[in-house]
Amino acid sequence: MSSNTQGDLSGINDYFYPYRDRYTTYSTLPNVGVARDEVLGVLREMSEKEDKVGDEGRCSGSIYSGDHDHYRFLTEAFRYFAHSNVLQRDMYPSSTKLEGEIVAMTLSLMNGESLGGSACGVLTSGGSESLMSQLFAYREWASQTKGISAPEVIIPNSAHVAIDKGGHYFGVRVLRAPLDKDFLVDLNWVEDHINRNTIALVGSAGSYPYGLVDPIAELGQLAIAHDIGLHVDGCLGGFLLPFGKKLGYPIGDFDFSVEGVTSISADTHKYGYGLKGTSVLMYANKELRKHQYFTYPDWPGGLYLSPGMAGSRSGGLIASTWASMVTLGEQGYLEIARDIFRTADLLKKGIQEIAELRIYGDPTFLVGFGSDAIDIFHVNDYLSKNGWRLNGLQLPPGLHFCVTRPNTYPTVMEEFLSTLRDAVNYAKGPDLGQAESSALYGLAGSVEGNKVVEELLVGALDAFYGLAQ
Ligand SMILES: Cc1ncc(COP(=O)(O)O)c(C=O)c1O
Repeated sequence: MSSNTQGDLSGINDYFYPYRDRYTTYSTLPNVGVARDEVLGVLREMSEKEDKVGDEGRCSGSIYSGDHDHYRFLTEAFRYFAHSNVLQRDMYPSSTKLEGEIVAMTLSLMNGESLGGSACGVLTSGGSESLMSQLFAYREWASQTKGISAPEVIIPNSAHVAIDKGGHYFGVRVLRAPLDKDFLVDLNWVEDHINRNTIALVGSAGSYPYGLVDPIAELGQLAIAHDIGLHVDGCLGGFLLPFGKKLGYPIGDFDFSVEGVTSISADTHKYGYGLKGTSVLMYANKELRKHQYFTYPDWPGGLYLSPGMAGSRSGGLIASTWASMVTLGEQGYLEIARDIFRTADLLKKGIQEIAELRIYGDPTFLVGFGSDAIDIFHVNDYLSKNGWRLNGLQLPPGLHFCVTRPNTYPTVMEEFLSTLRDAVNYAKGPDLGQAESSALYGLAGSVEGNKVVEELLVGALDAFYGLAQ
């Protein structure tokens, strides 16, 4: 994507800044510091207002735990190390302990031991950094071991866009393989497009749009046959699907026990129920991990070594992520997973009973759906006016509901399905005109449309910084 497109969406600033008339706007430092109570009051008010939708379970994905008691505990753990800098390992050996244990526990969840002790990992700031870092590591590996200078990676069209972001940053060409009728990657297409510049393949577990697990075993065989990497994006499903498997749900294998898998990402800040800002990126061996490290021995500031993209990092996030994992334990994760899969079953059944809707693929915890009969974005208009926040999909148009813990509260899913049935009836009504929740629908699939969309996206990003230009 070009980044020099000039978008102007100044009109939507009112939408992004609902508090302009309510609170003081600081565009310079206040001359004298504001009282702490006043500051905390403003923050409390905004957070209580904004948490409402998530806390009531009316939101898809995004809020994974929703348990404020858990959050209070995590912020207490965070507090002890909030100010510490992980870079200073001599001062904070606790970070080395806690970070190492987060990685080890996640490796064990991913059957790392099946590789006989070679599996290893790093902690990153989130799914996007994990996906970008693995791409960088494969690029470096392929450059140094095979002399590849025009690297390419093949990913399912349903794979997360952060890989394209990585490709954009690191000069790796990203080929998006089409999906088959089950919304899984088309293996024949992948095989046909592997060439001598291919450095790695990617499969998702589960994919962001549809929550599905790609055929990882088959991708693994392709990766072995061509001596290339296979990254499994378990950012979303990594901390949920293993428990779904234990509960007996039909979930395909995707971890290090699958031959050919060379790296996996799993986000502690999603179904790991940690605070936002951490993900685990795991490699099959240290040789591969080494390629994401950066060292620079000749810097006047000292011998520099850095495992990933960040420089200074707070020990607080590491402490709270560790605290989340060890206090929940296997049983805690399993219990939440049981509720999530049960609620997703209810959701699936409810959607299947609505003739106008069809589910994309055969999901277990995140249900993507669309319609051949009605405009699905009219459905979304109705849902959002009634307080439900789903995610819109395109190509094909659809919505998805990623079930998280707050959606499992009593009556939430029943209420959603009742509103969904009303929403479908609304969408069947005459003269509805253009759907509001997707004014861009129909434009985004065309070349001209994509240009307009790109301008709007850049304009939207500019609007986030409306005050700071
Ligand atoms: C499958 C998948 N991969 C990667 C990401 C990116 O994660 P993050 O938002 O933490 O960067 C997401 C986010 O939802 C995801 O669903």
